[in-house]
Amino acid sequence: MKTRITELFGIEHPIIQGGMHFVGFAELAAAVSNAGGLGIITGLTQKTPELLAKEIARCREMTDKPFGVNLTFLPVLTAPDYPGYIKAIIEGGVKAVETAGNNPQKWLPVLKEHGIKVIHKCTSVRHSLKAEAIGCDAVSVDGFECGGHPGEDDVPNFILLPRAAEELKIPFVASGGMADGRSLVAALALGAEGMNMGTRFIATQEAPVHDNVKQAIVAASELDTRLVMRPLRNTERVLRNAAVDVLLQKERELGANLKFEDIIEQVAGVYPKIMLEGTMDAGAWSCGMVAGLIHDIPTCKELIDRIMAEANAIIHQRLAGFAAR
Ligand SMILES: Cc1cc2nc3c(=O)[nH]c(=O)nc-3n(C[C@H](O)[C@H](O)[C@H](O)COP(=O)(O)O)c2cc1C
Repeated sequence: MKTRITELFGIEHPIIQGGMHFVGFAELAAAVSNAGGLGIITGLTQKTPELLAKEIARCREMTDKPFGVNLTFLPVLTAPDYPGYIKAIIEGGVKAVETAGNNPQKWLPVLKEHGIKVIHKCTSVRHSLKAEAIGCDAVSVDGFECGGHPGEDDVPNFILLPRAAEELKIPFVASGGMADGRSLVAALALGAEGMNMGTRFIATQEAPVHDNVKQAIVAASELDTRLVMRPLRNTERVLRNAAVDVLLQKERELGANLKFEDIIEQVAGVYPKIMLEGTMDAGAWSCGMVAGLIHDIPTCKELIDRIMAEANAIIHQRLAGFAAR
């Protein structure tokens, strides 16, 4: 399938694996890229730029296809060494960067200078337009359904994607709630030129996370996620578990007085415990409503081939059949 997204990133299928903390290691990125999508290493999961450089080199050993790096610009006081991470990306010869969080404007000139394509993740039309205005090459439009940070507007993709299509000139992918060939065709119908998946890619053979995480996603239904940290305007969609229940109880009790320190135990530093050790109640971890559509743990190639076959069948058989009537 050819779209402006496949052309932009030099990939076979318009499917991107979004950056995921303690999931987006070289193994997953390489597997997605080898299957014809765009795999993404999560930059900040690597504690230092030197470690990111090593992770990029490791990925390069596993694939000769294009892959990207996610750089999340966090609203924190002591910023990570972003110049160092960007240097590692440039020197590693990476040609795609997925930015997320704060406005990436400051970093665009140096990325562009080195021929790196930038796709910025946005949860609203206004932020997407801003990304276009500052020179991003594409946008990943993340609807309210998404795992991770859906923003504070709560607009689901059935509205957000066509609204983005009404306003944007640069290409965009649909992100949040995407799982299969139906998602891809729907995303294309609503104006996107591909899709980005997070949660779906965790439940794959190659995702280097504990099997408990994959089983939790397969077992979960679309009713099992919760929004946390809304009082802090840092809303995150997570899978419900014992720690999330404690967190939500604190949010109810403290109301507008809630501070980050009150919930630090449930949210800070919990990813290695969950993703690597499989201690599922160690804290709150991002997961999309799309868990309700995830019933198996295929390889990335099986998943992507299945998505493309299903999408083609929907377009050429189901939809073409309606058109012929
Ligand atoms: C476990 C997990 C960790 C994530 N970590 C990040 C991250 O560090 N940076 C980022 O930009 N997005 C992160 N995301 C968001 C994904 O890149 C993607 O936008 C989102 O998962 C899409 O929604 P979906 O899960 O419904 O597919 C994370 C998502 C999950 C599920």
